Amino acid sequence: MNYPSRPTWAEIDLSALHHNLQQAINLCSANQRILAVVKADAYGHGAVPVTQALQSFGISDFAVATLEEALELRHAEMTDKLLVLGSCFPGQEGAFLQHNLMPTLLDKDTALRLNAAAVKQQRQLKIHLKVDSGMGRVGFLPGELREFLPQLRQFDGLVIEGFMSHLACADELDSTVTTDQQAQFLTMLQMVREAGVEPREIHLNNSAGLSGWECPECTLSRPGIMLYGGLPGSDFASKLDLQPVMHLQSRIAQLRQLPAGSGISYGHCYHAPADMRVAVLPIGYADGYNRLLSNCGQGILRGQKIPVIGRVCMDWIMLDVSAVTDVAVGDCVTLLGSAEGVSILGDDWAEQLNTISYEVFCRIGSRVPRRYLPKK
Ligand SMILES: Cc1ncc(COP(=O)(O)O)c(C=O)c1O
Repeated sequence: MNYPSRPTWAEIDLSALHHNLQQAINLCSANQRILAVVKADAYGHGAVPVTQALQSFGISDFAVATLEEALELRHAEMTDKLLVLGSCFPGQEGAFLQHNLMPTLLDKDTALRLNAAAVKQQRQLKIHLKVDSGMGRVGFLPGELREFLPQLRQFDGLVIEGFMSHLACADELDSTVTTDQQAQFLTMLQMVREAGVEPREIHLNNSAGLSGWECPECTLSRPGIMLYGGLPGSDFASKLDLQPVMHLQSRIAQLRQLPAGSGISYGHCYHAPADMRVAVLPIGYADGYNRLLSNCGQGILRGQKIPVIGRVCMDWIMLDVSAVTDVAVGDCVTLLGSAEGVSILGDDWAEQLNTISYEVFCRIGSRVPRRYLPKK
């Protein structure tokens, strides 16, 4: 077998992306569109190919976190509406204007800078005004908004295209925080309207919000994780029908027959209880295969789950394949995703690692090539 590229890769299944997008669309009301969140390299799935796939599925509104992420898309000739969720930092104003990017407006100082830059070029920049309705992170608080609105309205260089906020606890369906946030969001929207501003776009819901909470005023929903097949929270396991998009795979580099008692990998934290056959895969924590999966990760081979044994190294992991017949060097093991009807989901890793699937996907390293399976 020849390996012109590394025998470890992540397959990105665009049919699954399409399926998950349809689930998100089905949750939107008739007046709502999807604003697809493709920040952090589309949660590790590859921003440019994922955005292009979503465009081909009819999506034309996108959000990233940083100017650099936006420029990556613009350099790939993506001309659709692009919202930068993470503000416009001092010195970036010219790039926002040049590349027709919409900043999320979080504070007064940024508004002053952006307005001055736009007026200087005799241009107008569309912004989305973000309010803190209870997330406790960024955005205008009610008092700040009330105070600043008269001045903001006078800015010739800025157009308030969007009005938005972000939910803190929408993944907990019995939380009252979301109903409080919804009420605060509407109060602040009313404040904006009373100041004579009617934003074209109104948006609040992330994946959890979209899956569990209605927002009749909203024109957009901003799902991220559900597009990639991750649950926005455990409360949604039975509510959402999602498919994993990323399938992390690696081919067996060596097969070893080890005698009972052999210590395996750094620290010898695993000793073979009997003679065993061990498959060595060329993937490690440098690829996002978390070291905390030492002695508890699993792979899928021939429709069977096989255990990771010993410490995860930077570039290698070992699995016990004693129970699988006819294993050969070069066989493909699926470490994340699904194969032959068996799955190891981002949410499964997340539970083992005491994190969320978002982090699992984002941490699959740049050393792992992504291969795109076209939509069937
Ligand atoms: C402001 C904002 N909107 C939407 C999203 C998408 O959230 P989710 O991936 O939970 O759908 C995020 C993600 O962190 C976000 O920060």
